[in-house]
Amino acid sequence: MSNTLSENELMFDQLFRKLKNVIPVAEIRHKAELAVQINRLKKERHAVILGHNYMEPALYHSVPDFRGDSLELSRRAAETDQEIIIFCGVRFMAETAKILNPAKTVLIPSPKAGCSLAESITAEDVRQLKRLYPGVPVITYVNTYADVKAESDVCCTSGNAAAVVRSFRDETVIFLPDQYLASNVARETGKHIIFPVKSAAGLIRPDPGLEYAMIGWQGRCEVHEKFTVEDIENIRAQFPDVVILAHPECSPEVVAASDFSGSTSAMIRYVQQTRAPHYLLLTECSMGDNIAAENPEKEMLRLCSVRCPHMNEITLEDTLQSLLQTRYVVTVPEEIRLRALRAVERMLEIG
Ligand code: 13P
Ligand code: SF4
Repeated sequence: MSNTLSENELMFDQLFRKLKNVIPVAEIRHKAELAVQINRLKKERHAVILGHNYMEPALYHSVPDFRGDSLELSRRAAETDQEIIIFCGVRFMAETAKILNPAKTVLIPSPKAGCSLAESITAEDVRQLKRLYPGVPVITYVNTYADVKAESDVCCTSGNAAAVVRSFRDETVIFLPDQYLASNVARETGKHIIFPVKSAAGLIRPDPGLEYAMIGWQGRCEVHEKFTVEDIENIRAQFPDVVILAHPECSPEVVAASDFSGSTSAMIRYVQQTRAPHYLLLTECSMGDNIAAENPEKEMLRLCSVRCPHMNEITLEDTLQSLLQTRYVVTVPEEIRLRALRAVERMLEIG
């Protein structure tokens, strides 16, 4: 009992030091107790917890063994020797961990943690595109489900999307499903992009005579599509010395009007390595809280009206239940897993 008390106190101190300006003390105390139970069970059950950068601040700063962006966490999932992987992130991330670790138990704390990008495309859509553009390689953003990955030649994340596209040199490529990420990468790699049109009769190839460099899909992230150039102009008018960072799932106009664009971990590193009077992050709001907690001397401005409902499904309460009840087990049919694995492994090989 006294052990538990001192463990709780230690965890409370650890969280209080980081989060005293971010969340109320009573909540820190409650979450510290949950985190102690999770960390104890995690050891007993030989589990590793992977936490995406968007996790809420108390979870982010207490239970993950590894934190990071999609690419970093995929690498951690590939390396782990623990028997259970608990993915504090969304379903496509947990599925990627399962694709890489068929013999391990992969758990996600909430079955509702989806992703609007992953929902925007089906495996049949990819097959139709491949019929429309025979022989053109398919690059698929990791924010997709396993059956879509299985139809692809290689996956990518926001951390290596441009490198993956460049690895095909001047070949035309299909890049799915994020319209904005594709447009941002097309601009970065100097490629011309077009989008096939959906109709009742199927997909229409816009101009069959033209040689395209990049063929996209009109999927969007429901969070990042909401940021506008007007938001940026308003913030710059109010804080002329602000530095604005935008995730590449934002529109090309928003990215162009920002000072930096990169994966969630690249954004974190940018704030750590620079000194500016104010920063604004155009991405899921919890990440601003997490950066503020670790960089108390830097002022983070927030646009918190836009939240990712899927990432916000993952709580300390559900992570504890996940460990206690071995729930929710992530499965991928073996035939799909084997085909998706090739695309994921190829992604991990590209920096
Ligand atoms: P990162 O790979 O940059 O962490 O992005 C994941 C994501 O879902 C962003 O919305
Ligand atoms: Fe998906 Fe957007 Fe949420 Fe990321 S922020 S998990 S892309 S819905």
